Order: sequence, then C-alpha cells, then structure tokens
Amino acid sequence: MYNKLTVEDVEVKGKKVLVRCDFNVPLDSDGNITDENRIVGALPTIKYLMDNGAKVILCSHMGKPKGEPKPELSLKPVAKSLSEKLGKEVVFAADDNVVGDNAKATVAAMNDGDVVLLENTRYRKEETKNEESFSKELASLADLFVNDAFGTAHRAHCSNVGVSSIIKPAVAGYLIEKEINFLGNAVNSPVRPLVAILGGSKVSSKISVIENLLKKVDKLIIGGGMAYTFFAAQGKTTGTSLLEPDFIDYAKKMLQEAGDKIVLPVDTVITEKFDNDAPSKVVEGNIPDGCMGLDIGPKSIALFKDVLKDAKTVVWNGPMGVFEMSNFAKGTNEIASMLADLDATTIIGGGDSVAAVNQAGLGDKMSHISTGGGASMEFLEGKELPGIAALTDK
Ligand code: 3PG
Repeated sequence: MYNKLTVEDVEVKGKKVLVRCDFNVPLDSDGNITDENRIVGALPTIKYLMDNGAKVILCSHMGKPKGEPKPELSLKPVAKSLSEKLGKEVVFAADDNVVGDNAKATVAAMNDGDVVLLENTRYRKEETKNEESFSKELASLADLFVNDAFGTAHRAHCSNVGVSSIIKPAVAGYLIEKEINFLGNAVNSPVRPLVAILGGSKVSSKISVIENLLKKVDKLIIGGGMAYTFFAAQGKTTGTSLLEPDFIDYAKKMLQEAGDKIVLPVDTVITEKFDNDAPSKVVEGNIPDGCMGLDIGPKSIALFKDVLKDAKTVVWNGPMGVFEMSNFAKGTNEIASMLADLDATTIIGGGDSVAAVNQAGLGDKMSHISTGGGASMEFLEGKELPGIAALTDK
C-alpha cells in the first residue's frame, strides 16, 4: 500500500502549487459537462489550498487531442463549472502551448488564494510520452506539486509522473488519499464478508481483476455480457449472446479453481434483436439459437441479493445487462438499489457501473464512487499506479 506525503504534510501558504486533477469529463455537443463527479471530487483539495493561502494552479488533460490544440477539447467549460462550485472565479489561462506566454503571465499575476486553470495538457505532444522538456515547463510554474488525479494515476505522463520527479516534495491530494483508502482497504483489509460484483461485456479485459479478486474475496458475482463466456464454460449454449470463444478454457479453469466462490446467473432475459422494444422472455440454462442474453433474470437477481445480504464490503465494477436500454436495465438497477440499502461499505469502481448507479439516482447512497475507470481497474488488478508511486514517501 502507498504511504505518501499528503497536502496536509507541507506548508502551502504563499506557495505556487501546481495541482494535477482529472478533469477528463464528458461533454455534450454544446460543450456542457454531463457528469461532474470528477470536478466535485477535486473540490476538497482545491478549497483546502485556497483557504490556506496557496496560489492554486490547476492542470488536467481532457480527451485525446493527440498533441495539438483542439478547441472542442479545451478545459474552458471546466473553469466555468469550478468557478460556480467554488464561489470564486477560476481564471482560465487560455494558451495553446499550455505553459506559454499567457499562462505564465496569468500565474505571475496571482494573489494568495487565487485559482488558475491551465489548458488541456494533451495539447502538447510531449505530455503522453512523459518527455522532460514539458515536465520542466510545468514545474517552472510552481514551488510545490500536488497530484489529485486518481483517474489518470495509471498513466505515466509529464503532468503527473514527470513533474513529480522535478518538484519535491510531490504530495497526494485528498481525492487520491480517499480513493486509496476505500479501494485499498476493500481489497487488502476488508471488513468481511467481501463480495465483488463484476459485469460488463468482456472477460478478456477483466482477467487480471478476476485473478486478483479471487485471492481476496469471499464471493465473486459475475453478470453482464462476460457471464456468457462462463455459461459456455459450463457447457451451456449461448445463442447469439456476447461470447469470447478464446476465453472459454480460461473461464473453465477459473470455475474449477474457484469452486463456489464464483456465483453466476441462473437465468437470462433473452431477445432476438438488440433493440429495447424487441419482445423478450426469461430462460433458465441454455440460451436458444438466434437469441441473445441482454440482462440477468429474476432468479439471478434473487440469488445475487442473497449472496449480498450479509456482505460487509462490496466492490462493484460493470453492469449486469444492457442498462442503457430501459427494458434490460432491471438486473443492474436491482443490484444498485440493493447496495443502496445495504449496511456495508459499498464501492463503485468506475466506468459504466458509475453511470448505472447515477442513472438510478442512487449515487449518494453508496459509500464511495471511484473517479477512476482504468485506474480503479488497475488498482483492483493489484498493479502499481505510476502517478501515485512517483509521489514523495512519508
Ligand atoms: C480516464 O478517463 O480513464 C482518465 O481520465 C484517463 O484517460 P485516458 O484513458 O485518455 O488516458
């Protein structure tokens, strides 16, 4: 586990503090932010620095502009949202070079307690290659570096890893601290029983997570599209459902090794067409030819709830069905409501399951919603996250 200096371990008053956030938020076609979870998650660190007299210089990437300025991936909308939430203007340092003349002048004009947001760090081609030249430019703006971008911690880029090797100390912000506490305790020292729920479409993308979690959990519930590869491993037919034939042997091996630790669906909502309005029915066992499973059935919901009812820690990553289509969202929604009422630490591990929980309006009923998609997956795989590893040890 990480034991890094945090923002409270260093003197920030009067200092220029570069803060790496993950403001990679979804925008609609009019440039409006459609999910502010990552912005809200960054506020405690920003407020702490403002209140303690730092000059707060925020930076982040957004999307993949591939090393050149792309106006539709500008961070300007984030400055507006932050200004509203902080009740103070966050000055946007518009600058195609990120650390160009305008950014430098904007930073030079800051007073203690002011907040500036730099332009998308991926406007610079050096960023994703972690090239020293851009890390040095970023570092030249500040006296202290705070990394609070948990969502980007699985990347080794200039604005997280590069600057950490130049500005010392490089410390963790509150969001990184919180994410590590929730995810780390859940997998390393959980209050038991610990139940993990994995869903989503692919076994192949979750192999390392399955292997790491099987060593730690009391039960592993598998739903969503990835369950059909496990069905095939049990000798069931899967019709036209999502299937990864190359991973059937792997699924067989997992089932043999894990015994009854792995809990699979026992029934499936099937349809002939991938269409919300297509007629559907529930089957147990084999999925007939020409039919695809799009959600777990009522008996699976009951089975999963029974496994979950005594859980004291639950980690959930991946929906149980095609929750974006209302007629196939029941399995995912029922699991979300069950978790909302459970007397347990409930952790939603990023990506689609966060969208599902928020769609069900239950986000604030969970103990923790991770701001990391790929980062939380890599954490659950047991991998080291370079963005955190690069920070100064306590
Ligand atoms: C994410 O959304 O997972 C992070 O912001 C990282 O973005 P990336 O996958 O483009 O590096």
